[in-house]
Amino acid sequence: MPTPHIRAHSGDFAPAVLMPGDPKRAERIATLILENPRLVTDIRGMLGFTGTVNGQPLSIMGSGMGQPSASIYATELFSHYDVQRIIRIGTAGGISPNVAVGDVVIATGAHTDSAMNQLRIPGVNFSAVADFHLAQAAWEESQRAAANGQLDGKVHAGTIISRDHFYFTPEGQTEKLAAHGVLAVEMEAAALYGIAAHHGTQALAILTVSDHLLDHSSDMSAQERETRFQSALKLAVAAALS
Ligand code: HPA
Repeated sequence: MPTPHIRAHSGDFAPAVLMPGDPKRAERIATLILENPRLVTDIRGMLGFTGTVNGQPLSIMGSGMGQPSASIYATELFSHYDVQRIIRIGTAGGISPNVAVGDVVIATGAHTDSAMNQLRIPGVNFSAVADFHLAQAAWEESQRAAANGQLDGKVHAGTIISRDHFYFTPEGQTEKLAAHGVLAVEMEAAALYGIAAHHGTQALAILTVSDHLLDHSSDMSAQERETRFQSALKLAVAAALS
């Protein structure tokens, strides 16, 4: 039963899917953490893999960049492939002065300038929030890993913003968001949270801060973006299998 954007069959996906933006990163993570990884879809190069971690099934699939792309894959996974939880693992730009490059953000809620959730319930400003159970599992793993000295940077839990533009920001917006305690910016979580609410399923975004919008002095290189996601991945796997 392939769907328009996923060439897989019933049972090809695990109930839990880790979702990086970049399909090549999905492949690298699958190779890194899955026992017996199997390619289950590759339409448009959006690679998806299924295998096991400590015997528990887990899938990893790219989302592409931006809320429309991520929404297509999340909707098809939830509605046709019996997926119950999606954990986005990606990068984000730091906004709060309390957040540093290399830190991890567990996005408990996502503000957005996108219209995707605005269209859901006319007249309602939909609150895009993470699944509490997944956020709690990720947080507990962060406390355990930190106590064992296994984490790279700090872990924060709080709000982010999912913007539609990467290269355009209204003047002063980032500073105002920082003043409202917003930790970071990325481009997918708010829509993902809306889709999970619509399907009665679970979603969470766990983000590695790759650059800081208010201080670019220690932004990650392209290569660092590829390698410095181990802490986020650890929390994501714990949440996915919780
Ligand atoms: N903006 C949006 N998404 C991002 C950024 C950013 O600055 N950095 C990493 N992902």
